[in-house]
Amino acid sequence: MPSLMTLGMPLHGLIATACALLIACGGADSAVPLPVQEEAPTAQKPASSPQREKAATSLADYPLMDTLATAPVATDAARAAALAIGRGVNFGNMFDAPNEGAWDLRAEDRFIALVGNSNPAIQSVRLPVRWSNHASADTQATIDPVFMERVVGVVDKLLARGVVVVLNMHHYRQLDGDTLDYGEAAVPDSADHALVRMRFLAMWAQIAQRFAKHDARLLLEPYNEPHGLLNRQGDGSQPWNDLVSRAVRVIRQTNPMRVLVIGPTHWNSAYDLAQLALPHDPNLVLTVHSYEPFTFTHQGAEWVSPKLPTGVTCCNAAQTQTITQLLDTAQTQAKAKGYPVFVGEFGAYSQAPLASRVNYLSIMRQQMAQRGMPWTYWELAAGFGVYDPVQNQFRPEITQTLYGTASP
Ligand code: BGC
Repeated sequence: MPSLMTLGMPLHGLIATACALLIACGGADSAVPLPVQEEAPTAQKPASSPQREKAATSLADYPLMDTLATAPVATDAARAAALAIGRGVNFGNMFDAPNEGAWDLRAEDRFIALVGNSNPAIQSVRLPVRWSNHASADTQATIDPVFMERVVGVVDKLLARGVVVVLNMHHYRQLDGDTLDYGEAAVPDSADHALVRMRFLAMWAQIAQRFAKHDARLLLEPYNEPHGLLNRQGDGSQPWNDLVSRAVRVIRQTNPMRVLVIGPTHWNSAYDLAQLALPHDPNLVLTVHSYEPFTFTHQGAEWVSPKLPTGVTCCNAAQTQTITQLLDTAQTQAKAKGYPVFVGEFGAYSQAPLASRVNYLSIMRQQMAQRGMPWTYWELAAGFGVYDPVQNQFRPEITQTLYGTASP
């Protein structure tokens, strides 16, 4: 089962490169070909940080980046990378399950063949990965090499199809303080959560090193939907700001220029962008998720408690306003910070009435296009899916509405 959310808690909505050389890409609906840039000539080198020669024993062994004081600082490479995301899709419920296949889907070649190259309407893939369930229980969090190479193989096949790939860390349940999923075991943590946070950073050191030589069309996203223990705490502390700063520093040791994707707390809520302190780094792209109106998009979803009633239609004026308000906030905040922003997840669950899903997706696409926001739809072939994995075909109404063609 995917993530468990509880009504009453701040939900998604409640408080809520470069292209392949030959692929036309663009912010939402435009089609502007952009060159691949391996290194941005104008990008400033990150502060050097000493390579760790011995195993980290405390969080202090993972230093902070400087905090951004002035905006704008995004490089042309970061802007081009965001634009090249264009219209994409999440390969959800594959590697983000406790184990590949546990949620009925695998990152099969038949799915990889649906994007890029011969299907240029889908320009990017966000690849969610639950690394934490494939790493040793100690603070070194050594990632299972077989799993690592499995992910590398899929990333390589996707890149070979000319798409932009956003590779993330997804569902590290202990990091947010969530209940673990079936098939997971807790690691012993300390009261200040330092051990779990060190594991997060240790995994990033390994992932970053393994992908350091990959094409610039691979973007890395430190964490999906930080929430719970990572939200601003009662004492005013901002654990996510602290942790993402350390993570960027770790990644920069091996990937000085790669474009990184960073989202705010409360499940990547646009309304938390204001309190997101960005590390001082010019090669960043911001991301938000939009599941407004939540009672529509998540009706009947088994992982929402209490389960939301079905039969909710979309979108009247009030519902549409929840959509535009969120996107406006994302746009305004990103502009103020001086970074591009893309919508990494949005979608409506299959239990919603089809005509309303189509209407909702049409509004989303139009509103994101109007703001020049690239996006990756949640998701390919599971409960929100644009693709029917049993019939082996795209769902025509949804696909047409999102990508402008019934079979990309
Ligand atoms: C979660 C999925 C969930 C989706 C919609 C994603 O961020 O990772 O498990 O299905 O949001 O709720």
